[in-house]
Amino acid sequence: MSILKEGVPVGLCSDHAGFELKSIIEGYLESHGVSFEDFGTYSAESCDYPDYAHPCAFAVEAGRVYPAIAICGTGNGIGMSLNKHQGIRAALCWEPELARLARGHNDANVLVLPARFIDPAVALEVVDAFFSTSFDGGRHQRRIDKIPVSDCD
Ligand code: RB5
Repeated sequence: MSILKEGVPVGLCSDHAGFELKSIIEGYLESHGVSFEDFGTYSAESCDYPDYAHPCAFAVEAGRVYPAIAICGTGNGIGMSLNKHQGIRAALCWEPELARLARGHNDANVLVLPARFIDPAVALEVVDAFFSTSFDGGRHQRRIDKIPVSDCD
């Protein structure tokens, strides 16, 4: 778990569809001594994913949490919400190699998981891959520098 920063908790957020997987991941983080901040939701009651994505995104942008893990049923709604933030690079990953590439090539700062389309054991492997892969920099730095809309001419 090498991209984790000393004294900076991991951020977590989900909607109702991702609540159970979020709980499983929190148990996994606890068992590894990794601190986290949970931005909700806090039950399986139906809710709206942007309400949890946006506070988590602001915290990542402020450096209060790093990285974050966001979960909804497909991963799409919560990922779309997160990626409205200029400082967020949220990557939907359902197998470990995607997570490695999202880190290595895109310096993703939020891992997005599709709770209804991933086995929990695989999700934990994806978390491991995401946490243990550094950004490759170089040409990839130039590309991610061009992502924020405010930087377009
Ligand atoms: C909730 O039913 C579902 O729509 C949500 O979790 C997510 O998959 C939306 O993108």
